[in-house]
Amino acid sequence: MQALEQLAHDHPWSRSLLAGAFDERYFTGALWLGEQLLGYFIADRVLDESTLMNICVSPEWQGKGLGRQLLQSYFDQCTAMGLQQLWLEVRASNRAAINLYLSSGYAENGRRRNYYPAANGAEDAIMMQKQG
Ligand SMILES: CC(C)(COP(=O)(O)OP(=O)(O)OC[C@H]1O[C@@H](n2cnc3c(N)ncnc32)[C@H](O)[C@@H]1OP(=O)(O)O)[C@@H](O)C(=O)NCCC(=O)NCCS
Repeated sequence: MQALEQLAHDHPWSRSLLAGAFDERYFTGALWLGEQLLGYFIADRVLDESTLMNICVSPEWQGKGLGRQLLQSYFDQCTAMGLQQLWLEVRASNRAAINLYLSSGYAENGRRRNYYPAANGAEDAIMMQKQG
C-alpha cells in the first residue's frame, strides 16, 4: 500500500498516516489483480457523514475506469452504512480527480485558499459535497 501511495500521488501520505487509516473510524476498499494492488480508497465516517480521504489507482492502470469503480464501491459502502452527506477535498490542480468527482454527483461547495503546500508555494483546496 505504501509503495502504491508513493507511486500514485505527487504528495503521498506517510507510512504512519496510512497505518492510522485502519482505525475503526475509517473504512477502505481495494482493487486487486491477483496479489497486485491496483488501487484503493480510504474514507472516514462520523455520524451520518463521510469524507473520502484518499483514492488512488496505480499509474499504469489509470484511465481504464478503475477510479470510477473504486468510487462506486465507496458509494455502495456509504449507502449500506446509511451515510447521507459525503465530503472531500481536492487540490485545485488535480483535473483528473475533479472530473471524476463532478461526473459522479459531487458539487463544489467552497475553497480553502492556499491550503496545500505545492512546488510553487501553495494551492487551493476545493471542497466538494454529495448527498449519499
Ligand atoms: C484520480 C484517479 C483516482 C482516477 O482514477 P482513474 O482510474 O484514472 O479514473 P477512471 O479511468 O475511472 O476515469 C474516471 C473519470 O476521471 C476523469 N479522468 C480520469 N483521468 C483523467 C485525465 N487524465 N484527465 C482528465 N480527466 C480524467 C474523467 O472524468 C473520467 O471519466 P471518463 O472516462 O468518463 O471521461 C487517478 O487518476 C489517481 O490515482 N490519481 C492520483 C491520486 C489522486 O490524485 N487521487 C485523488 C486525490 S486524493
